[in-house]
Amino acid sequence: MPYLEGAGSVVPLPGKDLVASFRNTRNLSNTLAAPLSPEDQVVQAMPDASPTKWHLAHVTWFFETFILLPHSPDYIVFDETFTFLFNSYYEAVGARHARTDRGLLTRPSLNEVMRYRQHVDAGMENLLAHGLCDGKVKKLTELGINHEQQHQELMLMDILNLFSRNPMRPSYATTMLPFSVGFGRKNWLEFEGGLYEIGFNGAGFAFDHEGPRHKVFVKPFLIANALVTNKEWLAFMADGGYERSELWLSDGIATARAHDWRAPLYWFNDNGIDWRQMTLHGERPINPEDPVGHVSYFEADAYSRWVGKRLPSEAEWEIAAGRQMPCGNTLGSAFLHPLPAGAENSGPGQFFGDLWEWTSSPYIAYPGYRAPEGAVGEYNGKFMSGQMVLRGGACVTPDDHISATYRNFFHPHQRWVFSGLRLAEDLI
Ligand SMILES: [Fe+2]
Repeated sequence: MPYLEGAGSVVPLPGKDLVASFRNTRNLSNTLAAPLSPEDQVVQAMPDASPTKWHLAHVTWFFETFILLPHSPDYIVFDETFTFLFNSYYEAVGARHARTDRGLLTRPSLNEVMRYRQHVDAGMENLLAHGLCDGKVKKLTELGINHEQQHQELMLMDILNLFSRNPMRPSYATTMLPFSVGFGRKNWLEFEGGLYEIGFNGAGFAFDHEGPRHKVFVKPFLIANALVTNKEWLAFMADGGYERSELWLSDGIATARAHDWRAPLYWFNDNGIDWRQMTLHGERPINPEDPVGHVSYFEADAYSRWVGKRLPSEAEWEIAAGRQMPCGNTLGSAFLHPLPAGAENSGPGQFFGDLWEWTSSPYIAYPGYRAPEGAVGEYNGKFMSGQMVLRGGACVTPDDHISATYRNFFHPHQRWVFSGLRLAEDLI
């Protein structure tokens, strides 16, 4: 790796790996948008979701605002109004367009947003190629890449939500999805109680909230080696799972009743007999062996109580998953759908890929956590209230964007996430 002598310090220049990672990530966003028409990319299906065009512009604004403007003296702003339009939630950067109104932005056009992307790409390539950057820029570029990867997953979540609202039930995917069957029996993995360490260990990129690494005490526990399946969820439904208030948290049953939940999101039953579901491959029958997806924390919690088990804590999940390399059915496998445990691309224990897994842990700071200084300090820390941690990544998560210490978080009622569950149990 080449090095640049700084003022009293030696800092690594961004190597080819960082430049290649930047290019690959930017290209992947364009590739993910390619199957969509300009009309597809403008509409916002619900307040939690954003239009594809907005995602493409917002991730570009991130590189412009946090890297090019403060660190590249020659950079010329593409359009001054874009800061208001494409700032998501950064109070330190200033006022912004309402999140709920992102679907009203018919201007700038998609063509103009693509020119914005090219303009910022050129600025970033210039910065990275000419050694103008220091260790801080390198870290911010890694953050910008990982930020765009998060939005790549959001793009697919939001496209599925949008297409699910279309009576034509269109398919986003251009490839066929295999109708897989499960392999082997579901087993329990056993772990001794005691002191363990969890959290980021210092190798590679991590978001700030993945650390500090710290000790946790856990009691002996069992954890399943596979996710809960559609077949198991159908049994919960058949037993009145959505109506039995004794299974649910108070906020959970209130939410289920308010929204008339009777099945996971994207499931429908037009003829009163056969459940079908909307996927990125369009409408298809429920495969009983697939992991059940698009369930909220409230539903996952109720299911675990119905079956006499519980959700794992995030510490238990990390202890169980952390002994292996992250691999599984992630975005690179191109299935764009969770597959049965043991199917092609499934990793050991199904810990990585397929579906994010709800844990019983609230999203709060690890002991000793401090949010970074400046605007990027708003990235994670200020959301540590009222949300739950999910682990493991999904079939729409970029392959190199997942690790054993990765902490995703959503509100307990949200279910447009590619979210599922695995069970755990106290070992007495
Ligand atoms: Fe963002």
